[in-house]
Parts: sequence; C-alpha cells; structure tokens
Amino acid sequence: MLKIKTGDIKAISTGLLMIPVAEDKSIHGNKAVEKLVETAKTYSEFKGRKGDELLFYQPEGVKAVRVLFLGIGNTAAVGPESLRKAAGKAVKKAIRLRVSDLLISLPDARKLPIGVTPVLRALFEGAYLGNHIFDYYKADKKQTPVKQIGVFVNDAAAKAGRGIPERVETVCKSTVLAREWVSMPPNEKRPDRFARSIVKAADKEGIDITVLDEPDLKKNKMGGILSVGAGSKSRARMVILDYKPKKAGKTYALVGKGVTFDSGGINIKSGGSLEDMKMDMGGAATVAATVIAAARLKSKDRVVGVMPLVENMPSGDAARPGDIIRSYSGKTVEIGNTDAEGRMILIDALAYAEKLFKPDIMIDMATLTGACIVALGEKIAGVFSADKKLSEAIVAAGETVYERCWEMPMPDDYKELLKSDFADIRNIGSSRWGGAIAAALFLSDFVENARWAHIDIAGPAYVKKGSDYCEAGGTGFGVRLLIEAMESL
Ligand code: BES
Ligand code: ZN
Ligand code: ZN
Repeated sequence: MLKIKTGDIKAISTGLLMIPVAEDKSIHGNKAVEKLVETAKTYSEFKGRKGDELLFYQPEGVKAVRVLFLGIGNTAAVGPESLRKAAGKAVKKAIRLRVSDLLISLPDARKLPIGVTPVLRALFEGAYLGNHIFDYYKADKKQTPVKQIGVFVNDAAAKAGRGIPERVETVCKSTVLAREWVSMPPNEKRPDRFARSIVKAADKEGIDITVLDEPDLKKNKMGGILSVGAGSKSRARMVILDYKPKKAGKTYALVGKGVTFDSGGINIKSGGSLEDMKMDMGGAATVAATVIAAARLKSKDRVVGVMPLVENMPSGDAARPGDIIRSYSGKTVEIGNTDAEGRMILIDALAYAEKLFKPDIMIDMATLTGACIVALGEKIAGVFSADKKLSEAIVAAGETVYERCWEMPMPDDYKELLKSDFADIRNIGSSRWGGAIAAALFLSDFVENARWAHIDIAGPAYVKKGSDYCEAGGTGFGVRLLIEAMESL
C-alpha cells in the first residue's frame, strides 16, 4: 500500500499528485515539479501559505490526472508534523475525489530544516493514518480509502528511504487497530469479547497468548480487578501477550487500562458525555496493538503486554465505597470512590507483570484521570516516573512522533493524601486537587523495583472532532510513541 516511486515524474500516471509548497522558497529539486509550482504561484489565492490549496486538472508536463498543491508555510517553521498534516489532507482530498491512488512529491530535505528520513516517515504516516475510515456500523459506505500511496523521490532519497514504507505501514496499521478498538461501541467489546478480539489480532504473529478468566483471577487473588468487574454480567479478564524473540535484549512490560465502559459504578458518573466512556480501554488497545507491531517488526527485545479488562457497572453485586479489598500484592485498599476504578485494576496488573516477567522497564498507559485533562488539555499526555532518564526518553519519543507528552511530578509528601484509616491505602486522595498526581502515586505503591513510568492518556486517547490525519473517535495514541521510545532506550 505504501511505496517509494522513482523514475521520471513526467511519465508516472496517477489519479492525484500532491505537491507540498513552501511560501518563502522552492523546496523541490525536480524541474517538472518546480515548473508546476511556479505556475500555481501565479494565482493570487495560492502562495504556499499554511492552508493554501489549489487543484489543477491535467496540467502540461506531467501525466497525473490531477495535481494538488498544498501550502506548508515558511520553511524555517516546517517540521515533520506540517508534512504529516499535508499528506493527511492530500489523502482526504483523494478520497473525496474518488481517486484510488495518490502520489506525493518528496520535498528536497536539504531545503528544509529536517532530514530526509523524517520527511519520508512523516509523509507516509500522515497519508496512511489519514486514509483510515471507520464506517463499520454504517450501511452506506460513502467513502472508499485510497488503495495505493506513493512518494516520488530521486535516486539518492530512494536509497535513504529503504525500508521506511514497510516500517511505517506496520506501525500505523497497529495505530489503526487501536483506533478501531477504541471507537467500537461498548456493547460490542465487553471484556469477554474484547479479550477474544485481542487474541484474534495477535494470533499467528509469533506471540504467546494467555487469557485469565474470572476463576483464574480468583486463584491469583487479584482483588482489585475482581472488585471492579463485580458489577458487570460480563466478567473480568486479563490478557497477556508475550512477544519473546530468541536471545532477547531487554524485557519491556507494557500494562494497559482496559475498562470497556466506565459508568463510574456505584459512584455513577453524572452528566458529562457518558457515551465517550467506551474509550476507557484506550490503554489496553494501545498496549495490545504495540505488542503486535513489535512482533511484526521483529523487535530484538521481549515485549510483554498485560491488559486487565473489566466493565465498571453499578449493580447489586458491584463494589461499594467503603469496601476494602486485598490486591494481588497483598496490600489492602479501601475504595473511596468506585469511579477511581482504573487504578484498582492496574495495581494488580503492574504487580503481576513485575513479579512474573521481571521487566527491565515497565510502562503503563491509561485513560486514568479527568484531572490530567484539566492539567494538560486534550492533546498532551502526562508522564509520571521517578526515573528521569525514562521519562525524558518518553517525552523525546513523543516529540519525534508528535504524540506529545509532558513530565509531571510525583512529590513524595503528596502520598499522605492517600492514607486510609482502615486499610493500607485508599484509592482516592483526600484533597480535591492534584488528582492525576494522586493516581500516579497510588500506582507507585504497587511497583517494587522495576524502572517504571505511567502515562495518563485520558486526554489524547479520543477526539470528538476529526483533524488532518485522524477522524473523530479513537486516536491510537501511544502506539507510535511506545515503539519509538522502546527503540531509543
Ligand atoms: N476513566 C476516568 C477518567 C477519564 C475522564 C478519562 C474523562 C477520560 C475522560 C476515570 O476512571 C475516572 O473516572 N477518574 C475520576 C477519578 C476520581 C473519582 C478520583 C476522575 O478523573 O474524575
Ligand atoms: Zn472512573
Ligand atoms: Zn475509568
């Protein structure tokens, strides 16, 4: 689906050729492309400014049926994200025009403040992700995704770009998988079904798969997961995906919050958009999709994914505020609020992952707190870790793939807020403020020695409104981030 194309652009036939155009200078080395850009810029509405758009039909000099010019602004401010967006826009245009193949002209990286590899990666990523349409539940499938996406390059860039399309396709396919799981309605992904769906996706990828059902969870004394799952007819599961190459390097344990619907439980959520709480399994979706991507990329490291899956529902059997449960670690937890359920399932999964797999690095991803959205808004994830090197690597990986992360503090003295009069710890803080920090500190009590980071993705896991390369619904946030971070560590 993604391809590098070389040769003579004048002779390549395509339904739509997209040429990114800068405002301040020429960024293409190819003469035929430059000539087209010159003509485009003679029109007053097109100067290469950000957002400028112009479409030609069968222009002279190239075989393309249509040529789309997209402005990307001044070169000094152009980064990979400008190119992802332009590529996303181009593929959306191709879909609207009912064109089945798209060709993108690669700008000369020497004329941009970024290297050729990031330029190629960004164009392929934006185009692949922008081509994703989630219309499974619609009878009338109005839009058809583009079948072929090519980037036209000169011979030098072709050499530098070897392997990039395949790699981007593998990783972004997993991003799309995570998106679809998150967008799926909650009645179709209750824990048993979601577990089966993960097993199906991970099957035949060289991954060891284990699914713990409720009796297994009981045997393992996973009181946290069991208490959250108690209110739902669809009983809890824990899925473990283990990609273990021969002579593995590091061992990564990835843990993902998998609340298939968060009603709040007995502390039922009031108002707000309860229907969006189908996205509360975004962490599990990302983790499962990441393990699958790592296996397909034949990563040299062992990557284990641990996904506790529950539905948080009120019922006569549901957990109550005031309940005290014994978690897998042996520590008791007093439930102050049944809506703080994510941390209850994560503490069992974290303790289990650390004990069984002895990971060098453990990272959990969770749509954990509304407070993190208050702090960082809807597009930036919060990173919590006592390990500075680890959090810095995650933040840096986030910059590279534009899944932005911000380091948050874990002040020791705030732990006092989690004191319980009756149990070892309470699942909510006694203060109204600093909820994302309280949640992270709560989790930290259940990690013993592993290098560990917690990523709160409550904001970026889901969007109400689509943008250039992501439609409304699940974003798949975290797959590209984790793959990049694991490679950099
Ligand atoms: N799943 C929510 C967090 C959330 C909120 C995710 C909005 C995405 C969008 C979580 O389980 C929750 O309800 N957290 C509570 C914690 C509180 C009860 C201490 C919250 O953030 O209000
Ligand atoms: Zn909740
Ligand atoms: Zn939740």
